Order: sequence, then C-alpha cells, then structure tokens
Amino acid sequence: MYIYKAGVVGAGTMGAEIAQVISYSGLPVVLKDVNQDFVNSGLKKIREIYKRRVEKGKMSAQDVEAKMMLVTGSTSYDDFKDVDIVVEAVPEKMELKKKIFQELDKVCPEGTILSSNTSSLSISEMGSATRRPHKVVGLHFFFPAHIMKLVEVIPGLATSDETVDDVTSFSESLRKIPVRVNECAGFLVNRLLMPYLNEAAYCLQEGSASMREIDQAAVAFGMPMGPFTLVDNLGLDVCEEVGKILLESYGDRMRPAELWKKFYDAKLLGRKSGAGFYNYQGTDSLADKMVEELRKQHGGKGSKFSIERIIFPMINEAAYCVQEHVSKASDIDIAMRAGVGFPEDKAGILAYGDKIGLDVVLSTLEKLAGEHGARFWPCPLLRRLVGANFLGVKTKRGFFEYT
Ligand SMILES: NC(=O)c1ccc[n+]([C@@H]2O[C@H](COP(=O)([O-])OP(=O)(O)OC[C@H]3O[C@@H](n4cnc5c(N)ncnc54)[C@H](O)[C@@H]3O)[C@@H](O)[C@H]2O)c1
Repeated sequence: MYIYKAGVVGAGTMGAEIAQVISYSGLPVVLKDVNQDFVNSGLKKIREIYKRRVEKGKMSAQDVEAKMMLVTGSTSYDDFKDVDIVVEAVPEKMELKKKIFQELDKVCPEGTILSSNTSSLSISEMGSATRRPHKVVGLHFFFPAHIMKLVEVIPGLATSDETVDDVTSFSESLRKIPVRVNECAGFLVNRLLMPYLNEAAYCLQEGSASMREIDQAAVAFGMPMGPFTLVDNLGLDVCEEVGKILLESYGDRMRPAELWKKFYDAKLLGRKSGAGFYNYQGTDSLADKMVEELRKQHGGKGSKFSIERIIFPMINEAAYCVQEHVSKASDIDIAMRAGVGFPEDKAGILAYGDKIGLDVVLSTLEKLAGEHGARFWPCPLLRRLVGANFLGVKTKRGFFEYT
C-alpha cells in the first residue's frame, strides 16, 4: 500500500515529534489536537527541532520552510478524510483512545491504517472499538522520536499481515528501525528494561551501593546512562504506570521495589518536576534522605551489588520473550541497541548472554535467586538450552548459531 498522506492525533510530547519525523521524510501530515493553542504548541516544537538541525548545519532555512509546508495543524477530523495512515498519540487512557479510534473509523477511508503510539495498552482492545480491527496496529515510537531509531510494530489479535507489512515499510521510509513485537504487557523494550531499573532500585534501597555508584557501574558496562539517570529522564510517573501493568501481567518477578512509590508519592518525578533521584534545581536533594530512611527499614546491612545483578534480569526477561515468541532473538537484540542504547560492542542482550555462556547465566541467576528472591528464577528456556549444551559462543550455539 502506498502512503501519500498521514495524520497524527495529539500534538503533545510524542505527537509533535512523530509529525516532525513524518514531514522530514517528505510526506504531508495533518497534526490534530483539541484546540488551536495545543496545535500551535505542537507546530512550535516541530519548528524547534528543525531549527536545531539548521544550527548544526544539517539543513538550510529554506529546507525548513519546505518541510514545515508539509505539516497542517488542525482541530477537526475533516482533514483526515484523505489520509492513508493515522498515528494516535493522545494520553495513555484506553477509553479516550477507543473513542478516538471510533471517530477515525467513521471519517477515514476504509483502507486507512489506524495505529497507536501507546506504551502499554492493548492494541486488540483498541481494534475492537472499530469496524476495521485488521487495520489497527501498534506503532510505538520512543522519546525523543526525532532521534530514537526504534519503532515497535505491534499487531493485535485481529491485525492483518498486510497491515504489519505496510507499517513496517512506512517506518522504514521514516528512516526508523521497525521491530515486530507480538502483543504482551510492556511490549518488548519496556518489558526488558523494567527488571533492570527495578533491580537497581532494590540495590539502592538495600544499601548495596549509592545511586551514583550504580549509575557509574552501568555506564562502565557500556550503557549510555545509568538506571537512575534514565528514570529521571523517562519520568517516575511513567515508570510507576508501566511497573503496575507489568506486575499485573507477570506477577512477583516484576514486583516494584518500595522505593518507586516513595519517590512517586513525594512527587520526585525526575527532570520534569525539577528533581527525582538527582536534583535539577541546584537545591538540596530529598532523594538521599529518602533512600536513607528506606535503608533503615531494610536493616541497613547492605546486600551485595554487582553489575550482573542488574543486567542478568534483562537476559532472563529476554529469554522469556523468545520462549513466548514475542519477538525473534535477532530482533530483541536490535531493539535493545536501537531503543535502549545497549552497548554495540556487546551486540545485544541475548548475544551478550551467549558470549558469557548460558550455563554461567543460569547458575548466576540461581545464585541470585537464593540470595535475593524468586524474581531471579531462571526462565525455563534457559534451562532447556543449557540442558541441550547450547551454551552460546563456546559451543557454537545458544540463542544464536556461531560458525
Ligand atoms: N512521552 C513519552 O516519552 C512517550 C514515549 C512513547 C510512547 N508514549 C505514548 O504516547 C502517547 C502520548 O503521550 P505524550 O507523552 O505525547 O502525551 P502528552 O500529554 O504530551 O500529549 C497528548 C496530547 O493529546 C492531546 N489530546 C487529548 N485528547 C485529544 C483528542 N481527542 N484529539 C486530539 N488530541 C487530543 C492533548 O491535548 C495533548 O496535547 C501515550 O499513549 C504515551 O503512552 C509516550
């Protein structure tokens, strides 16, 4: 299917970025919000992104005007009568999204693909609100969308293969890296990331290491930033929401550390609120005091910190994703590099497991489960691979084959 024109619903943080990416690829795009002020603020954000490209010498001011001409702000669905694809980016509320999908279903041509940028909600449920569930699909961009390369393509139960192929080509035309993710809570990247962030929080509240030490250890491993810096950037409210959804689906292995709620209740939400784990306003940080209180509750003994303790839960969760056919092993590794910045020299989370040796990963997880609890219990697929002597690079077969 050819896509000649796109629509974006919601001109907020993600919608404006997505509209910029679409216009940058040369496609006309309508950007809709509930009132003209929100639309204008979205258009302003797009112009700012282009302006920064001009400042870096990557575009001329003339090019910017040509790209801006491709973006039409709107407060009405009338402008959606000839779009081939819509990306919905309104707040993360199922009822709101369903209502918008019903409205789009009425106004858009029969063949129009309706996609959602949801981080966590069911695509199948959104599809069920329309008369075209085969044309409804998840298209999960990452913030900031004009920089992050990864797009998770998430078919719902009724999404057709044709729709998946069409949005995959569309994402590629936006110069993104699409990865197919079969619907599950947290989709792929958030599902893998959360056990890592959560374990860092357990380490912190148990007094294993300070947040700076944990962040430094992650950076030394090769991550672009440490877990607490990342949470401050993502927003603690967003992490708290994702954490709830993961707990509901996967149970105890995703039980959030108490620290999240304590920070959330104290409105230490990260950069957006001026302070989170770190302080961005130059005043005294509340975070250290709150961590100290939590440590006292935990007896202040200090459990042991190791980089394996925060990285291996990601390997384990990635193994669950392979086992459940959420994504192919190679796509999981691509997604971790493009969506999280997993170090290039380690190729990906599963390739890293293969390199260490899956027998070592298994025994380390068992040891960690003995020390810290069942959340480390190894995924059955890991045990199966080790039983089959698929130990990774050293036996030439693990998650991948090596010649
Ligand atoms: N912010 C992120 O980092 C991020 C990353 C990936 C995915 N997402 C997902 O993207 C979606 C949007 O998140 P956001 O952070 O951009 O939210 P946001 O609050 O910044 O923007 C949402 C926009 O939608 C508008 N809106 C509400 N109802 C509308 C309607 N009926 N018609 C048109 N516009 C309407 C709001 O006025 C607002 O401008 C959510 O589903 C979120 O989970 C967010």
